[in-house]
Amino acid sequence: PLRRASNIHYQPMRVDKAARAAAIGQTPCVLWFTGLSGAGKSTVADVVEQNLHRRGLRTMSLDGDNIRRGLNKDLGFTDEDRVENIRRVAEVAKLMVEAGMIVLVSFISPFRSERRLARELLEPGEFLEIFVDAPLGVCEARDPKGLYRKARAGQLPHFTGIDSPYEPPEAPELRLQAGEETPDRLAAHVLALLEARGMVP
Ligand code: PPS
Repeated sequence: PLRRASNIHYQPMRVDKAARAAAIGQTPCVLWFTGLSGAGKSTVADVVEQNLHRRGLRTMSLDGDNIRRGLNKDLGFTDEDRVENIRRVAEVAKLMVEAGMIVLVSFISPFRSERRLARELLEPGEFLEIFVDAPLGVCEARDPKGLYRKARAGQLPHFTGIDSPYEPPEAPELRLQAGEETPDRLAAHVLALLEARGMVP
């Protein structure tokens, strides 16, 4: 059973998000990449981050495969664990936004309710949902880690798209047709969105 703390009072800090962001001269935000395993979330996020980094912007990347080795190594792939996985990542992303960072989050994040929760943790305009939309058939054909093959063979239960659901975003800020263009082209769409919103120079 969870032991919840009580008597917790929000502690205001005199150096706030705006001050931290101003010190590094950028507009903090979260680029939330969602999509099936193998759709290319991490690959596109990596190209975008390299580009932002070259422009001198302060970025941080949170990636499912990496965070699940540390902060979230106690979590598996049941619905309940995915919910907790995304809840924690959303809170970490929020902290990083408060530090003034541009945060790239790449998790399957299959459930609309948790993506909505992540959005609601942030201020309007800070959360950009990017649907990395590649058809299941394409992801399965790529199968970069051999996981779809295992899932089809019944060796990997609760695999997204096979026997665990993926709920596509209804109104993402950006939808990438990830089965059709190269990672560089897909990243260019993301950068164009950031430029159009005045979030990067
Ligand atoms: S989730 O749904 O957001 O909690 O998933 P995430 O933290 O992004 O982790 C997805 C990566 O874990 C590997 N993996 C699985 N994915 C889906 N379903 C099951 N059962 C599973 N087991 C392991 C897989 O490599 C995912 O990596 P990506 O980068 O998405 O391909």
